[in-house]
Amino acid sequence: MRLTDGQDIVLGIAGLGTVGGGVIKILEKHAGLLAARSGRSITIGGVSARDRSRDRGVDLSSYTWFDNAVDMAASDTGINVIVELIGGSDGPALALAREALGNGISLVTANKALIATHGKELAALAEKTGADLRFEAAVAGGIPIIKALREGLAGNGVTSVRGILNGTCNYILTRMEREGLDFDVVLKDAQQLGYAEADPTFDIDGIDTAHKTAILAALAFGTEPDIEHLPTEGIRNIAPVDIEYAKELGYRIKLLGVVQQTSEGIETRVHPAMVPISAPLANVMDAINAVVVQGDFVGQTVYEGPGAGEGPTASAVMADIIDVARGQGGPRLGIPAGDLAVATPVPVSKHRGTYYLRLRVEDRHGVMADITKILAEEQVSIESMLQRGRASDGGVYIIMTTHEVVEASVASALERFTELECVLETPAMLRIEA
Ligand SMILES: NC(=O)c1ccc[n+]([C@@H]2O[C@H](COP(=O)([O-])OP(=O)(O)OC[C@H]3O[C@@H](n4cnc5c(N)ncnc54)[C@H](OP(=O)(O)O)[C@@H]3O)[C@@H](O)[C@H]2O)c1
Repeated sequence: MRLTDGQDIVLGIAGLGTVGGGVIKILEKHAGLLAARSGRSITIGGVSARDRSRDRGVDLSSYTWFDNAVDMAASDTGINVIVELIGGSDGPALALAREALGNGISLVTANKALIATHGKELAALAEKTGADLRFEAAVAGGIPIIKALREGLAGNGVTSVRGILNGTCNYILTRMEREGLDFDVVLKDAQQLGYAEADPTFDIDGIDTAHKTAILAALAFGTEPDIEHLPTEGIRNIAPVDIEYAKELGYRIKLLGVVQQTSEGIETRVHPAMVPISAPLANVMDAINAVVVQGDFVGQTVYEGPGAGEGPTASAVMADIIDVARGQGGPRLGIPAGDLAVATPVPVSKHRGTYYLRLRVEDRHGVMADITKILAEEQVSIESMLQRGRASDGGVYIIMTTHEVVEASVASALERFTELECVLETPAMLRIEA
């Protein structure tokens, strides 16, 4: 539904938690500025959450309360933009999104799970009814990366997008490196300090990064968001010893979301990687997010900033509301939903790259010969090899980096290493990402 000239924006805000509260604070602080920038006054026509009695640090008494958020999207409420800040790929968030867009009411959401899972359906619905669909806050919080891909870089063929998209993981990896601590110790501390959720699975197992990567892939390459075929590894198995050797070799370990055009197709993957210390992503520390985009005409562009939290996320939501008010529509996922291609997933086994390998082995002669024999048979060529003193739990470490090789060869060498008697634990492998 197109806004008419002079028509005010009337928001229905569903979800009054961290982000919802932040949006209301911006609206209260910057009402005049927002009206000047968007050309319309922006008011709140309704709010909804689960618990009406909860103190949210903002005065809600002047807003109409809806027990059922979906009712805000009925055509007779006067609400013309729904702001969905509930979360979750299905349930009330999806019901509200469908109802709003189906009725031609624009939707602004911070919900990466919703867009990664139902993005195509929702974009098609929005395009059918003329509603707008915006989700800047869903990826990298305060960084305007959706806008960059949809607008600023729209003249480019994108060749790759790499991002640090989860502040919790980056915070944990930063502290593991700075303080030489184990993953479990830092995680517990991060939970106490509020940097990690009580149930941290979504963050540390890479699922949150995968949702965001699926959205970036869709925008960068004009493909349907596809979370199902996105190979995803988290940071649970990162050992302090790998962080140390990374440093010695001139790298830093980061959890990355990667989307890359290769000769095999479009690779999308989420995993921890060794990043050269000279690369922009290696120097993004603590809970900060960053994205590096390669475009065929622009070259490399880098975006960095706070990826979560009340202020940064509400800032991105507000920017979307202003865009809806300005009527700056365009295809919701970069190209019309009906033209989005189904990407053929490229299995990680076909990934060509360089690798870091670490083995803990018995300290005796003949071990190196066994290892190099397997590497030669699997056609894995070694760029550098170090042997380091006794490991604390026995044996010695052999650390190797490879020349470019297909991952299937590395995987097969690793499998054969584990069968060797001299190999004392499951070898560690990390992809190196330039
Ligand atoms: N927090 C961040 O830094 C951040 C960053 C980027 C994106 N996001 C995304 O933003 C969204 C909101 O996150 P958040 O951190 O603000 O979450 P939150 O603090 O947990 O708030 C969620 C809100 O949704 C409400 N809610 C739950 N079920 C509902 C229902 N059936 N109907 C209406 N309201 C319902 C809750 O109500 P009660 O308060 O009554 O329980 C709560 O107010 C999520 O999609 C999240 O992924 C968050």
